[in-house]
Formats: sequence, C-alpha cells, structure tokens
Amino acid sequence: MARLEAVQGDITTQAVDAIVNAANTTLLGGGGVDGAIHRGAGPELLEECRTIGGCPTGEARITQGYRLAAKHVIHTVGPVWSGGQRGEAALLRRCYVNSLQLAAERGLRSIAFPSISTGAYGYPIARAAEIAIATVRDGLGKPTSVELVRFVCFSAADLTVYRRLLDG
Ligand code: APR
Repeated sequence: MARLEAVQGDITTQAVDAIVNAANTTLLGGGGVDGAIHRGAGPELLEECRTIGGCPTGEARITQGYRLAAKHVIHTVGPVWSGGQRGEAALLRRCYVNSLQLAAERGLRSIAFPSISTGAYGYPIARAAEIAIATVRDGLGKPTSVELVRFVCFSAADLTVYRRLLDG
C-alpha cells in the first residue's frame, strides 16, 4: 500500500514525479497554485499548455515540469463551490481520480496535491479534504505505480484538517 502524507508547504518546491496544479479550464495560468506553478516552471510551461487547448472541469492533463523540482505537472480543474447541490463533490472526486490515473499511466511513483478548489473556488476545506483523502485511498487500493501521495497544505489550519482525517 502506498504512503499517504500531509505536510505544510509550497507545492512548487516538492521534489516528486508530479505536482498537481489547481488550474482553470483555459490552462493559461491564473493566481494561487496556478500562478505559483507557472512562475516556478517558467514560460515553457505556458507554451506547452497552449498546445493542449484547455481542460474541462474534473479532468486532468499532464505536462513537463520544466524549471520545477517536479518532473511533471498534472493540471486538473476543480469545481467552483456553489452550495454543494450542483454536483461539486463528484467533480472534485474526478479531479483526484483522473490525476492519479494519469500518474499511473506514466508509471510515476510520487505525486503531490494541493487542496484543489479550496481557494478561489471556495470549496469548504473539510469537505474537500474528506473527498481528497477518500478518493486517493480508494485509488491506491487498485494496481498503480504510485507509492507516495503527499497533500501539501499552504496553511497550518488546512494541515490540521488533513492530519485529523488521515489519522482518523
Ligand atoms: N502551494 C500549496 N498550496 C497553495 C499554494 C502553494 N504555492 N498557493 C495557494 N495554495 C492553496 C490555497 O491556500 C488553497 O488552499 O491551494 C488551495 C487552492 O487554492 P487556489 O490556488 O485558489 O485554487 P482553486 O481554489 O482550485 O481555484 C482555482 O484559481 O488560480 C486560479 O487559475 C486558477 O482559476 C483557477 C482558480
């Protein structure tokens, strides 16, 4: 069984096979995680993203990591929180399923996730973390090359939420 861990830190400094970007459907960059990853990777990342032509919510696309410590960036687009009655949970789950699937297809062994949708997209952290951990645990129960999944929390408060769920 692969190892799941939660740390507090910056996703852009994680030396793993792939870091996951909390992108938008254009894949042309933004603020938060998206902005930090593009700043860290350099302009070639945007050039490669342009060739992809966007990404629907809930899906994931993989690129090189360029100047980042990570070899790859898996871009996934989380749902915008609108009260929880518009299928947000299912879409958020698909972000984690599709990101893990891309990693396994490429034989990657380590992947780091930020808290998808919990910043600009307003998804409540506790609900999002519950979905993240449950979905990743389920995915790691199936054949996969992934041996390490790291949840990278930007704040100590978010780390507490993840740690409580992981230890629970
Ligand atoms: N490393 C790790 N986590 C980070 C970092 C970082 N460098 N920067 C921000 N975060 C955290 C935020 O605190 C939040 O908990 O990542 C989580 C996701 O926040 P956002 O980056 O705002 O992502 P999201 O809520 O999915 O919104 C995506 O924002 O940046 C735009 O282009 C992006 O339109 C898209 C939207």
